Amino acid sequence: MKSSKTLQSLFVTSEAHPLIKTGGLGDVAGSLPQALATLKAVRQQPAVSQRILLPGYRHVLSQFDDLKHIANIEYTGHHGTVRLLETTFPDSDITLWLVDAPHCFDRDGGPYADENGQDWPDNASRFAVFSRAAVAISLNQIGLDWQPDIVHCHDWQTGLIPALLSLHPQRPATIFTIHNLAYQGVFSSETFFNLGLPTELWHMQGLEYHGNMAFIKGGLAYADWLTTVSPTYAHEIQGPEFGFGLDGLLRHRAEQLNGIINGVDYDDWNPATDPALLENYDVDHFEKKRANKIALQQQTGLPVDADIPVLAFIGRLVWQKGVDVLLQSLPQLLRLNIQCVILGSGEHAHEQALRELQQRFPQKLAVTIGYNEAFAHQVEAGADMFCMLSRYEPCGLNQLYSLRYGTVPIVRRTGGLADTVIDAKEGARGTGFVFDNTNQADFIDAMQRALSRYNSPKQWQSLAKRGMRRDYGWKQSARHYLDLYIKVSQQNRA
Ligand code: ADP
Ligand code: GLC
Repeated sequence: MKSSKTLQSLFVTSEAHPLIKTGGLGDVAGSLPQALATLKAVRQQPAVSQRILLPGYRHVLSQFDDLKHIANIEYTGHHGTVRLLETTFPDSDITLWLVDAPHCFDRDGGPYADENGQDWPDNASRFAVFSRAAVAISLNQIGLDWQPDIVHCHDWQTGLIPALLSLHPQRPATIFTIHNLAYQGVFSSETFFNLGLPTELWHMQGLEYHGNMAFIKGGLAYADWLTTVSPTYAHEIQGPEFGFGLDGLLRHRAEQLNGIINGVDYDDWNPATDPALLENYDVDHFEKKRANKIALQQQTGLPVDADIPVLAFIGRLVWQKGVDVLLQSLPQLLRLNIQCVILGSGEHAHEQALRELQQRFPQKLAVTIGYNEAFAHQVEAGADMFCMLSRYEPCGLNQLYSLRYGTVPIVRRTGGLADTVIDAKEGARGTGFVFDNTNQADFIDAMQRALSRYNSPKQWQSLAKRGMRRDYGWKQSARHYLDLYIKVSQQNRA
């Protein structure tokens, strides 16, 4: 292991904005490495030098014309050559490595599913190839004369890496970050054997999971340290309600598990400079937000009225996000003096139900099914309030974007939402409205409190502005990660 002052880290992820993103993991992986890179060495502690490793999806490769083939990777279980390509991560100095395995990644569609939302049938082997490539790099086996001190893995797609590395004495330290415990990468036991994984990993404390194999267990059981993306979620996943069958293992690992809240990339999400907005604004020019609201109403075909409150929802249309409860609540809500703008994609039944509701309430509800980054920014800027009814929410980023955009969040008290939004009941500290349960009564009650506050424009503005002043940038959280990198790599060396 290198003993230089700079810590070497390999940041392994299946998505990273702006190259490829399906949700918050993309945001985090696209901004945390840059935040870490800007941290200077302090108090005789080292700084960190990182490489990001990403699958060479067709969609990603097509965004570069300067890819350099720097190595071939063997032992990935892939029939055919796996190449390591090098470039620089956009708008940064960080080295980006792409695992070019055409059988696995050279196809249209998303990173995990095809155009119709069907999971790729070969996901197990795709991410096993990716993980084995990461392992070969981490063990300095591909002739690059480089070995990281830390390998930082994210979610089930990278779960095999800590497991496979654990079999090697001269290995870097491993950290596994849980962004969403419900996505576990579960495949049949046959898949385990077909992948040719080492049999010493096949047991209850290993990759085996009720007779199947769970990729995520490779991270949870074998990584030197576990993190998740908020302190409250770190606590919640140790209980049966949020543990999704893995709470026992997480309780067992409680001493090597902590929550570090995600940060916001305020270069990307800043209403004062956001190029997607009709009119830029900040906390001292809050009145300019109004032009964005009118633009949003025009764009979505809602009646233009700067006074009527506009509620927004952006996100994956899935059970986690409480979309069913939002759907149940909308007919009652839309009878009030309110407009609602929804942007999302996900389960077909939810998409269909939303389209039908829009036909029932065309003057009140505007639904956009699909994924649209620029429009997400315009919705954040144009709306007055933003709701998140999540059944669980490891961190959540949209409430943080909403705070910065002066769009008052109305959120369920869970995970990162509980850690970042303070109820208006708390007076001078309040930044939003928080309710206890993902059900219609609690949500409508919170909405009514919000609407009544909205009717006092001065009070509303001071609530919204308080949110805008909150700092959820990466600085502090990146420092926590760096401290952890230092601690875990020292322990590994000892
Ligand atoms: P999750 O990762 O569980 O989906 P987060 O709140 O952490 O939830 O992050 C979601 C990210 O994805 C945010 O950046 C959000 O703006 C974005 N997003 C989700 N759905 C859409 C969509 N339909 N169009 C544009 N952006 C979306
Ligand atoms: C996951 C979680 C979300 C979190 C994101 C980034 O997708 O659902 O709450 O913000 O990861 O960590």
